[in-house]
Amino acid sequence: MKKLFFLILLLAGCAVCLQAQNPKQPSWLSDAVFYQIYPSSYQDSDGNGIGDIPGIISRLDYIQSIGVTAIWLNPVYVSGWTDGGYDVIDFYRVDKRFGTNSDLVELIRQAHARGIKVVMDLVAGHSSDQSEWFLQSKEAPDLRYSDYYIWPSFKPEGGQNPAQGGSLDDAVRNNASASLLSKFVATDAPRGPYYIKNFFDTQPALNFGFANPDPGHPWEQTVDAPGPMAMRRELKNIISFWMDKGVDGFRVDMASSLVKNDPDKSATIKLWKDDLMKWFGSEYPEGVLIAEWFNPAQSVAQAGFDLDFFCHDGQYNYSSLFFYGRRGFGPNATVTMPYFDEAGAGGLKTWYDLYTYQYDAVKGNGYVCMPTGNHDFNRVCTEGRTNPEELKVAMTFFLTMPGVPFIYYGDEIGLKQNPAAPSTDGSGFRAGCRIPMLWDASANAGFSTAPIEKIYIPQDPDPNRMTVEKAEADQNSLLHYVRGLLQLRKEFPALGADASWKLVSSLDQPYPMVYERTRGGERCWVVLNPSAKAVTVTLPAETAKPELIGGNYKKCNYRQTRKGDVISISGVSAAIYKF
Ligand code: NOJ
Repeated sequence: MKKLFFLILLLAGCAVCLQAQNPKQPSWLSDAVFYQIYPSSYQDSDGNGIGDIPGIISRLDYIQSIGVTAIWLNPVYVSGWTDGGYDVIDFYRVDKRFGTNSDLVELIRQAHARGIKVVMDLVAGHSSDQSEWFLQSKEAPDLRYSDYYIWPSFKPEGGQNPAQGGSLDDAVRNNASASLLSKFVATDAPRGPYYIKNFFDTQPALNFGFANPDPGHPWEQTVDAPGPMAMRRELKNIISFWMDKGVDGFRVDMASSLVKNDPDKSATIKLWKDDLMKWFGSEYPEGVLIAEWFNPAQSVAQAGFDLDFFCHDGQYNYSSLFFYGRRGFGPNATVTMPYFDEAGAGGLKTWYDLYTYQYDAVKGNGYVCMPTGNHDFNRVCTEGRTNPEELKVAMTFFLTMPGVPFIYYGDEIGLKQNPAAPSTDGSGFRAGCRIPMLWDASANAGFSTAPIEKIYIPQDPDPNRMTVEKAEADQNSLLHYVRGLLQLRKEFPALGADASWKLVSSLDQPYPMVYERTRGGERCWVVLNPSAKAVTVTLPAETAKPELIGGNYKKCNYRQTRKGDVISISGVSAAIYKF
């Protein structure tokens, strides 16, 4: 009896130490693996050349087979299609190109039946200039939606030049107001002569007020003025509308953009933390809110989001690990080698400093997430990095780092960036990463039965292109490797979202990178050598020799010597050890 009591106590203790670190976050989040789908490019079900929701439903078994547990859909709302769906005309209705609201509800039902959550994109900061709200707001100042937008009556002069005597604070403020000035759009609308946009001209900013309204600028309302408060109610309404239909949460587009002239983001943080988060947490405790903010120290640690991204944008990014000397494309850009390239010419320091700052800032409050890619920047399979073994090394990194993994659709098979893809739906260069999925050997790789010229974005014409069908048939494929990694993550809590992380190797010798993950007494080391050359590293002596539990290495050797523990690993290899 006594023994049983202690056993129960022990099990309860383990459950506590393995549970999500932040009790405020949804219980399912710490074990989640997201799969991001750009809906126009995943699966077309009605033969018009564009992907849709019934198409996604038809691929749910495959999605489940990868081992992911949640889907994030890029916007599916009625849109003007000048920015890939981020110019929303009707926030309460699914765009015809994707189907109906009922199709989305059916997707949620079928995903849930497979244990998969569904997260939508919430475009919180702007709408389309074709939305009912904007069309009404531009008419006159006293209609229902008039104050949903910002209508400056003149364009102020730029701020004081900090080089001529201003303080650093002035400089930050001036930068913020200069960047706001760049968002003034001239218009001949009756409410003109200007409105403020958030991104493209077709995306007027929604009015959540100004951090410090300038009395000389009558259009700058306080955050708690009636207009901005009505805007907040509308946002909550949109959230509730979809949450009540079964959605599991949102990825919030440009979440840091809501309050204007807010250089340190304190007013935007306050709005999220004190109002939207409190409300959301009490209404939907199992719902997730993912920030697109690119600064988890603000979005997660302060504003209360469950997680935020660390990838291509903002000051905190992984450019030095993955990007070929530039963010997208450009004819004159000089190409410098990222860390993840066979050249072995990259470094870790830039990334390490940025990442550890963010990692330390959010620990225990939520997650810093490094996605394999997304709809805004080059895919991981791009330029010099197209060899499946290189992609396996990169995937080992993405799927064994702390935080919640995000796999961008197709990255699991090595879907290749198409630098020649023509701009589509306002994508610009981003079309190259929004290419349709490649499924099998049938016409248009099984994506659509439409004539080839109708396909949303041209697919890779290479007859040797990788498809899901080929990847399934090859036990050595990236797809099987990714499945194996996700299985390992499940099996070993030390590889999971909440396990602690530390770099074990030195920044002075970047190849191989060795990091340690620890959780509840379990300890793993991940060894990554993206370079083509075999490398050796000497690390402080451990008491025991670890066991190899995963990787794509040709050779990997662990020796305990008098000088320390020596790991030798072949080129383009990853290895995972467990102590
Ligand atoms: C970020 C989205 O990821 C991007 O695709 C979009 O163009 C902008 N926000 C504007 O909504």
